Amino acid sequence: MVDRIQSIRGMHDILPEAGAAWSWLEATIREVVESYGYQKIRLPIVEKTELFARSIGEVTDIVEKEMYTFADRNGESLTLRPEGTAGCVRSGIEHGFLHNQLVRIWYSGPMFRHERPQKGRYRQFYQMGAETFGMEGPAIDAELILMTARLWRALGLGGLRLELNSLGNAEARAAYRDELQSFLRSRRDELDEDSRRRLESNPLRVLDSKDPDTREVLREAPQLLEALDESSREHFEGLCELLSSAGIEYVINPRLVRGLDYYSRTVFEWVTDALGAQGTVCAGGRYDALVSQLGGRETPACGFAMGIERLLALLEAQDLLPAPAVPRVYVLSQGAAARREALHIAEAVREARPELGVQVYCGEGGLKAQMKRADRSGAEVALILGEQEVVEGMVTVRALRGEATQNMVAQTALLAELLRHCPMDQEGR
Ligand code: HAM
Repeated sequence: MVDRIQSIRGMHDILPEAGAAWSWLEATIREVVESYGYQKIRLPIVEKTELFARSIGEVTDIVEKEMYTFADRNGESLTLRPEGTAGCVRSGIEHGFLHNQLVRIWYSGPMFRHERPQKGRYRQFYQMGAETFGMEGPAIDAELILMTARLWRALGLGGLRLELNSLGNAEARAAYRDELQSFLRSRRDELDEDSRRRLESNPLRVLDSKDPDTREVLREAPQLLEALDESSREHFEGLCELLSSAGIEYVINPRLVRGLDYYSRTVFEWVTDALGAQGTVCAGGRYDALVSQLGGRETPACGFAMGIERLLALLEAQDLLPAPAVPRVYVLSQGAAARREALHIAEAVREARPELGVQVYCGEGGLKAQMKRADRSGAEVALILGEQEVVEGMVTVRALRGEATQNMVAQTALLAELLRHCPMDQEGR
């Protein structure tokens, strides 16, 4: 026996039976973001490693240990994108579409992180994200959040909680960082090992530790929100006001700090308790310093990304996924002339009723075997063409579900007969 090649751990095939759910989710996302006037951008999956190191941050989990980094054939260090924001900014600077403009773009596609695979956490996963540039006030932060809330409504999703925080500007954050660091140093012995390490490299990340002892210590830690600079405080209050007046509920989570370094001011996450440890479905915030950090002119920016697999898992848990799409009409034939006729008839039905889905049996089996396939296909109607039908210009229409009726009609009357079996909905489909 030859060894079989398996897929890579944490990288999954999305099989045909999941196709309807993915397509429906993707189409709903597209409808919602386009209704806000966002334009789609498609970017390379591979970028120079330095792009991620300089944007996400050298001392983050992603850059330190999760990137798929390799040397290109000419020795250049490249990385499979772990997220989409850095690429958008790189592209915006390169093509000059950021400076002095108001930009709203979105993207979707696979991202790669070498994390420990578990439910809701994969090494190849899909994100849909939106990024905006050139808008300073809290209105755009609110718009992004309203857009996600509209998406949840369009999908019928419930049970998501919006958590908000503000990280302030760079100076306020640096001052807070020092204050937090000296507090944590004074309680070092009570911290978990990971937090002790982070305390020196990236103390803010200690704030989102899940360790119970560390969390206990953090209850007494200085609060980030109290250390905010005046303009960040105003921005945050402005955002809270806009959300309240739009009827969006939120909770302020002073420990929300995010795992990427480029954020300033607003950060937010949509969280569910229904998915276990990987409960963040969508996350984002402001990154006003990133464009200049990557060599562009100073440009305010704000965005988010959502995990498609996590969204689908939540939709499934709430029983909201559409059934797999199956053709509603199945065409059977016997004999060479009938086989030819079957193709013509199937084409004519597709032309008139493209929404039905028509599948033609292609193979050598007799009518009985074909009927079994038709039954198993999930189709509602079988169209049968035998020698007699061909000679007489007829077609047999058989109902496959419910009461098994069978009717021979003229081929010219087929569409009318099909209407009886598969009526159009109110939109004429
Ligand atoms: P992130 O929090 O790293 O942010 O990822 C956003 C979302 O992607 C997460 O909330 C989660 O739903 C999903 N996700 C992340 N890692 C995985 C994984 N290993 N497996 C499955 N799903 C995952 C960002 O990526 C930022 N670029 C978001 C952003 C855009 N901020 C501003 N603009």
